[in-house]
Amino acid sequence: MNDPGIGPVIVDEHELQTRIRELGKEITADYADGPPLLVGILKGAFMFMADLARAIDLPVEFDFMAVSSYGSATRTSGVVRIVKDLDLDLTDRHVLLVEDIVDSGLTLAYLRKNLKARHPASLEVCALLVKEGLQKTDPDLKYVGFRIPPDFVIGYGLDVDERYRNLPYVARYAGPPPG
Ligand code: IMP
Ligand code: MG
Repeated sequence: MNDPGIGPVIVDEHELQTRIRELGKEITADYADGPPLLVGILKGAFMFMADLARAIDLPVEFDFMAVSSYGSATRTSGVVRIVKDLDLDLTDRHVLLVEDIVDSGLTLAYLRKNLKARHPASLEVCALLVKEGLQKTDPDLKYVGFRIPPDFVIGYGLDVDERYRNLPYVARYAGPPPG
């Protein structure tokens, strides 16, 4: 795609797919005794979730949740609103939360607290991307794809005003500030 908003590639398609296969193997081994319920956070995690699930050799189940955070388009405020809740009951399930990117960690902190209150048997997090040095509290991530510099990135599910989600790689955003 030729678009001036697409900056330098941060994680290319091959690196993404190689790392996702590794994560899938780790998860397959760790959950051999009890397959996880994958909980994807829409919309950003949809592409990662689809590839990750295919790399897990276990009978996983799926659910999705959509959240929106108040604040500007490139910064979260930490106040999170559930736009679409889960369909399934989490009681006694091994829940694996699948997130696209951890920036301040505020969205994740909210989600973790919210899901814990539903009494899962276990709750772990798999985040594709973690921005270096920005988390105010320890996000306690069991599975991390890549640690990246704290720039705004697009692609592979991540958007600016709903664009760029279908890029098969992660790139730095180089366009005008989103409105
Ligand atoms: P946090 O609450 O600051 O950790 O932000 C997490 C959420 O903000 C993610 O789930 C994304 O939806 C969004 N986000 C944070 N950084 C980026 C980015 O660089 N590109 C696109 N979305 C981002
Ligand atoms: Mg977004």
